[in-house]
Amino acid sequence: MIEFILNNKKITTDANKSMTLVDFIRENRNLKGTKIVCREGDCGACTVLVGQLCRDKKSVSYQTITSCISPLANAHGKHIVTVEGLNIANKLNQVQQYLKDNYASQCGFCTPGFVVAMINYCLNADSKTEEQMLDAISGNICRCTGYVAIINAAKKVVAESKNEGKKLTLKQLIQHGFIPAYFADIFEQLKSLDQIPYVVSGQEIIAGGTDLYVQQADTLLQATNLRYILQEQSQTVAIEDNECSISGIAKVSDLFDSEELNQRIPHLREYLRLLSSEAIRNMATIGGNFVNASPIGDMSIFLLALDAQLLIAQGDNSRTVALKDFFLDYKKIDIKKDESIAKITFSLPNENSYFHFEKVSKRKHLDIATVNSAILIKYEDNRITNIDLSVGGVAAIPKYLVNTCQFLKDKEINSATLLQAIEIMNQEISPISDVRGTAEYKRLLANQLLKAHFIKLFPEQIIFEEVVTIVGEAS
Ligand SMILES: Cc1cc2nc3c(=O)[nH]c(=O)nc-3n(C[C@H](O)[C@H](O)[C@H](O)COP(=O)(O)OP(=O)(O)OC[C@H]3O[C@@H](n4cnc5c(N)ncnc54)[C@H](O)[C@@H]3O)c2cc1C
Ligand code: FES
Ligand code: FES
Repeated sequence: MIEFILNNKKITTDANKSMTLVDFIRENRNLKGTKIVCREGDCGACTVLVGQLCRDKKSVSYQTITSCISPLANAHGKHIVTVEGLNIANKLNQVQQYLKDNYASQCGFCTPGFVVAMINYCLNADSKTEEQMLDAISGNICRCTGYVAIINAAKKVVAESKNEGKKLTLKQLIQHGFIPAYFADIFEQLKSLDQIPYVVSGQEIIAGGTDLYVQQADTLLQATNLRYILQEQSQTVAIEDNECSISGIAKVSDLFDSEELNQRIPHLREYLRLLSSEAIRNMATIGGNFVNASPIGDMSIFLLALDAQLLIAQGDNSRTVALKDFFLDYKKIDIKKDESIAKITFSLPNENSYFHFEKVSKRKHLDIATVNSAILIKYEDNRITNIDLSVGGVAAIPKYLVNTCQFLKDKEINSATLLQAIEIMNQEISPISDVRGTAEYKRLLANQLLKAHFIKLFPEQIIFEEVVTIVGEAS
């Protein structure tokens, strides 16, 4: 049985655990406010809130997810809130009111998703900036109002949902009419829910579901051998001295939220913001990103440059594999059917080493890369002592640039070294033309991204004019 709270009602159900949450909400509970448009996590029309007890069990934390690619199973033990669950008796909640005041809804199909995402902002964003609001609604697409009216409403929410610069407490959000009063009782109700994972004897792993449900939602409905690993609790991010370990079920948002990790990897949030939208980051796991084995998987490229090691578990046994040896060929990886990625470990950058990530995609949010690249470089007296470089979208696998790294080791950092390294990289990569761009374009991007790493990290040593040809100035 799956047990959870849907809005203000406790649900106990033996419905198919692998049906999507949105289908359960709409068809089983007849709550039609949550809309379905793309069924691929791309538009945000199906956004719902997921509340769960914080690790210290002292409060409830809320996040958004796209319910069209989330299995019902992942709702177990949680508080799921649809737009109906945000209704306040006989009047609009404050977010709905600001959307209405600003004429921010036309056909209305996207509106429930925007309402839920903006309420999530009210419940969470600490410093209450407009940037955080844009993050909160980065996964919501409107096809008819244009965004000006929605952004105007969003700015009003930003202005009104704080008190002396700080976020409103749950009690204040209720008093100010942002959320209904029953939210105050959810903490006690969640504690009384069955928190024991019902899981998990099957072999076919489902984590966040963001790849699986886009590719094979119908097949999953019939499957009988599934293992919903997000039910398996474990600490997601742990740092000891210079070592970081992340559990395989850590979500991208766990990395985004870890203050310690953000202190140790400068600009981490800027990089992670480039991965999809907030709602997808709240579901997408690091283990899922590796096993999906996409040549442009952002976390694969990211962690290749950090020279991550994977702990792969099979029952009580385990083995360790370097991420750079994990990808064998297109969509072929070094993992067996009954194995799972339990842990990922890597050394953190320190005072003599620098990490940098770049991604080019057709749009900034909610898009996968055309080419992406990451670098970790250690140096002393302007000489490279160690380097790890990865690039995606230019080979059958997320590519660790073995030869380029070998060449760069022990070299002086200057423009000439960089230009020679690019020559070597060009022999290591083999891009193909596809919907994301021609082979030539991807090669050009890979070249530009390698230059971008060095120009950003070593502005003193790399002479911009020596490595970059300005269009129109080429001889
Ligand atoms: C709208 C949208 C936007 C996206 N944008 C991006 C993007 O910008 N960048 C990007 O890199 N990706 C993107 N993705 C892809 C996806 O979100 C990621 O690949 C994600 O990390 C997959 O994780 P998951 O937990 O959802 O995997 P799932 O779908 O649950 O699983 C994927 C595969 O991994 C296996 N698996 C999962 N966890 C484990 C484990 N611990 N051990 C062994 N096997 C495991 C599953 O069996 C399955 O085969 C996007 C997806 C969507 C829907
Ligand atoms: S229906 Fe588009 S994200 Fe779910
Ligand atoms: S109001 Fe029609 S899609 Fe946004």
